[in-house]
This record gives sequence, C-alpha cells and structure tokens, in this order.
Amino acid sequence: MPRDENFLKANNARSLWHPMAAPGDMQANPPTIITGAEGVHITDIDGHRVVDAVGGLWNVNLGFSCEPVKAAIAAQLDRLPYYSTFRGTTNDAVIELAEDLRAFFEPDGLTRAFFTSGGSDSVETALRLARQYHKIRGEAGRVKYLSLKKGYHGTHFGGASVNGNANFRSAYEPLLAGCHHIPAPWTYRNPFNESDPAQVAQLCLAALEDEIAFQGAGSIAAFIMEPVLGAGGVIVPHESFMPGVAEICRKHGILLIADEVITGFGRTGAWSGSRLWGVQPDLMCTAKAITNGYFPFGAVMIAEGVAEAFESDETGRAAIGHGYTYSGHPVGAAAAIACLAETKRLEVAANAAARGAELFAGLQALAERHAVIGDVRGGCGLMCALELVSDRDTKAAPPKEMPGRVHQVAYENGAMVRVSGPNIIMSPPLILTSGDVQTILGALEAGFAAL
Ligand SMILES: Cc1ncc(COP(=O)(O)O)c(C=O)c1O
Repeated sequence: MPRDENFLKANNARSLWHPMAAPGDMQANPPTIITGAEGVHITDIDGHRVVDAVGGLWNVNLGFSCEPVKAAIAAQLDRLPYYSTFRGTTNDAVIELAEDLRAFFEPDGLTRAFFTSGGSDSVETALRLARQYHKIRGEAGRVKYLSLKKGYHGTHFGGASVNGNANFRSAYEPLLAGCHHIPAPWTYRNPFNESDPAQVAQLCLAALEDEIAFQGAGSIAAFIMEPVLGAGGVIVPHESFMPGVAEICRKHGILLIADEVITGFGRTGAWSGSRLWGVQPDLMCTAKAITNGYFPFGAVMIAEGVAEAFESDETGRAAIGHGYTYSGHPVGAAAAIACLAETKRLEVAANAAARGAELFAGLQALAERHAVIGDVRGGCGLMCALELVSDRDTKAAPPKEMPGRVHQVAYENGAMVRVSGPNIIMSPPLILTSGDVQTILGALEAGFAAL
C-alpha cells in the first residue's frame, strides 16, 4: 500500500535523485507527485486532474488506460515472467513481436530487430552495430560518428557523445573520441543567419559534405539523426534535409541511423519519421511508445543490407558481443505486441496529424497575443514547442523563471506541459481529442496572461 500523503510530501526528493534535475533544487522545490492517470489525464496527490500534454515522456501514445497492453503484461507475467534471449534460448513472445515489427517496418526497408531496454540502449546498440558492420566488411577504419547539434540521443556514453547539447555533455566529458557535429537545420537560430527552411537545409547538407571531406569518408561509421528533433526543442527540418543526408551517406558508404525513439509509431503523423521524409535508414532506434511506456523496452530495426553483411559473414567477425539481460524480455515483448496492434487499430498516426495541426495553429494564434513567444515550432504531428524570449528582435533568452511560471499557471488551469530551458514542449498522447487540444491551449493562455 502507498504510504500516506504526509509521508510522501515530507519525503519527496529526500532519498532519491531525479534525472535531469539538480538534487538541491528538487529538495527546495519538490516535484509534483502524480498518483493516478486515466485516458489522457493525470491526477496529482492533491486530487488535481489535468490533461497530460507531455504524454508521460513522449511515450504514452495510447494514453493511460490502454487495457490490451495492461492485460498482455499481466498475462505474460503469469505465463513466463522472464527468460533470457542470449545465445541458446528465446521465448515465444519475442519471436512473434519480431515478425510483427518486420511487417510494420517493411515500408522502411527494416527486416530484423535487436531488442533493448529503452532508448539509450537502442542508440548504443545502433552505434556499436554500425562499427561492427564495417569491420565485417573489411573497413575497420570506419569508426567515427557524425550527428546534429541540438540532437538528443540519450545518456549512455555513446549517445551522450553524439548528443548536440552541452547540457548533457559538459559534466561528463571527456566523451567518446571521433564524434563530430554539424549544424542542425534550424531556421530560428543557425550559424548561417538564414531563415528560409530550404536554404538552411542546403547549407547544413553542405556542412555535412564539408565535415566528411575533412574527416575522411573512410573514417566514418555512421551518421545519426532524429527525423524531427525532439528534446532539442522540436526542430522540424525542411523536407529536403533527411533525403539529402541519406543521399550523402550512401555516396560515402556511411550508415544512416534514424533515432526514432520519439518519432516511431505515429507521433509525426506518419508511422515513422523516416517514412515521413521518404527515407530508408540502415538502422532505426525505437523505444518509448513501443510499449506505450508501460514497460521499459526498445528495438533497433535493421535494414536488409546490414542484415545481409552479418548473416552471410564467413570471417567470424559477425558474432554480436553486445546485448542486455533484458533484451527481448518476454513481458516487454508481450506489451509491444498488444501495443502495436492497438496503435494500428486506433490509427493514431492520422489522429496525431489532425490534432497536431489544431494544436500548432492554436499555438501560432497564442504567439500573436503574447510577445514573449519568440518562435512556435511544430506542424509535424503531435510534437510542438514554444521558445520564449525577452525580446523578439534580439531573440535574447527570457528571464530564467519565466518558462516555469507559465508551466505552473498552465498546470493550475488544466494542462501539464514540459519546460526545457527557454522552451515549452508538448508531446501529448496520440489519442488526444479536439477538446483536449482546446484545454491545453486554454491552460497556456492562462499561463501567458499571468506573466
Ligand atoms: C531521440 C531520443 N533518443 C534516445 C532517447 C533516450 O531514451 P531513454 O530515455 O529511453 O534511454 C530519447 C529520450 O527522450 C530520445 O528522445
């Protein structure tokens, strides 16, 4: 039984450290204690109920009451709560899931799965498999990684090394050698002083070519990118960008890793971000919504060409010396099977596109009324962000407490949003209704009006 309310409030953040927060700050300003959830709503310890415009953490795509996923988890716990998939054993659920994922990702050209315990694991796996792929094929010198500034790829050392945000890097340096970054195709802020999306994309592609020439194509294993940058503040590239990256990578024998930990399974309005842009990556990282957030799980999807190199190897270099105790966990696999079926049945990608357009339009209208909103980003399904500024002309950062103030008043008025630096980020469940969109917009209106 949960302990009583006084106990929980008195001990909030006392004996645990929270991710992505300063321990002292959490003790001084204890986090909101969430005690229940239903549909797209969450309820806190004081009984306050709001629309969760964060969607858990970009993962609870089907909301908090997805009975088929809950039932699948419970049934699997009864049948086989755990068994390893390390060499020599497997389980029934994971075999079935691999076939389901193969069918789901067939249009992306991805036909094999390697299972993980979450997004950071998926990124680590993809980075490692990319190096191994080249070694199998006799190009052992291809060891470097390229990625985008502002990109987010989790917090393992490999992922942190390709991350493009100092907040996740500086305290943990030195990071992995051989990781190099190019500018993100971000129209609001970029080193080119250019705001036209197609132009920015071309300039970033030119920077990529330049970096490849500088590093030497034969030294680079892979380029990793999010099809739409999420945690970096919802940066939507021009439609020419990812196809351009794919073409350059192919030309130079560099593998393209699509980090779809957020964009996979419908969030952008397409079933994958790669599909949205018409690109077939060599490796794709998935996690989060694969189990609707109810079980820590992930999968790296592998393209036929990469699979072929491993499967037809006769050099002995293709043994995978990598994996997790929980790779292919039967409970996670059962959750994912049920989740994928529900994801398709509810056609959440189409709803993400429609509700995302409503939310984006509403946020643009909000920006017309509130000058502190410097930039509105979205237009690609249910991922949107507002960047706050103290001056629209200079784009100077807002006072430090301002985003938090908007967050707090929005919460009091019916919606949980997420603050990340100067950004307010929204990634609600994909089963959102138009009414829920209005609730979020109304709550934000109240938040900005209170400044
Ligand atoms: C694009 C991307 N990659 C990787 C990760 C890391 O996933 P996890 O937090 O499950 O390790 C995240 C998490 O937000 C992400 O957004």
